[in-house]
Amino acid sequence: MESLVIRQPDDWHVHLRDGAMLALAADLTARQFGRAIIMPNLVPPVTTVAAAAAYRDRILAALPAGRTFTPLMTAYLTDTIDPDEIAAGHRDGVFTACKLYPAGATTNSAAGVTDIRNIDRVLERMQQIGMPLLVHGEVVSPEVDVFDREAVFIETVLAPLLERFPELKVVLEHITTEDAVRFVETGGPNLAATLTAHHLHIDRNALFSGGLRPHAYCLPVAKRRHHKNALRKAAVSGNPKFFLGTDSAPHPRSDKESDCGCAGIFTAPVALESYVQVFEAEGALERFEAFASEFGPAFYGLPLNDGRVVLRRENLQVPQEVSRDGQHVVPFHAGETLSWRFEGAVE
Ligand code: NCD
Ligand code: ZN
Repeated sequence: MESLVIRQPDDWHVHLRDGAMLALAADLTARQFGRAIIMPNLVPPVTTVAAAAAYRDRILAALPAGRTFTPLMTAYLTDTIDPDEIAAGHRDGVFTACKLYPAGATTNSAAGVTDIRNIDRVLERMQQIGMPLLVHGEVVSPEVDVFDREAVFIETVLAPLLERFPELKVVLEHITTEDAVRFVETGGPNLAATLTAHHLHIDRNALFSGGLRPHAYCLPVAKRRHHKNALRKAAVSGNPKFFLGTDSAPHPRSDKESDCGCAGIFTAPVALESYVQVFEAEGALERFEAFASEFGPAFYGLPLNDGRVVLRRENLQVPQEVSRDGQHVVPFHAGETLSWRFEGAVE
């Protein structure tokens, strides 16, 4: 197969940042995706309808003229967030979903939720109005090994939460374990998961390949190889509970290559190329379109995109660095040659 034409895909989990990084991140995501779920972990976090609407305006203003892209905004849940604010934002079409960061779990999560019981009233309301909860599924207790944090979260927080709110729509974001795959597979139709491209390619050995590799570090951290293989099987399975969410999370090169390097992998420059390579290797190219363009909107209850895009089977040399406005970021697959190239919309 020399080219693949698919319905315009969406990215169901992305960090576009703000300020100097925003133009770079927004342009590269809008180049490949029609819509994206925008993560709210800015400083300060996006906790009000007004802040989300203003951020949405900044994203649209940062895009080059002529790009059609719809940012789908999320609310950052805190211990004290008001259920009325969430519901009003959802009713007015500003908030598509809410994001749960356990406090301290990842980048800019300090204002997150310290105990899930603190937001029971919010979850109750979300269940009532059919608003999805997007979950960073890791416990933060220092007693729990960093490689076990997702599995322990599922058992001790997520399973009980779904028992208390059986109708709540939940997306377990950027899953990294076989445990998560099984949990989502056996859950109800209101439970789904996003899969990043990087977790389909790397396992934890990538962090130590020939030396310490900060650009392979993200949260949840990559796990053992058998976990990666379970994620790949889930991605290509055709099960609509698993769909595309890059978790593209740019950090300036200097913040990654540091004494205390930030978590996050910048996938946006080569997102579709990276995913399609996995589908090809698994002999499942014919299932790529549903994963990238159909299962996400179906879960969120949104229409499918109308347009089509083309990927060509051509070598793509991934640059060592992507730069703009004084921001220098190392992309996922830097220095590698990929075998697909995203070409753009079909005229
Ligand atoms: C994300 C970031 O940098 O904002 N980092 C990451 O490693 N994925 C936060 C997140 O999604 O956990
Ligand atoms: Zn993320």
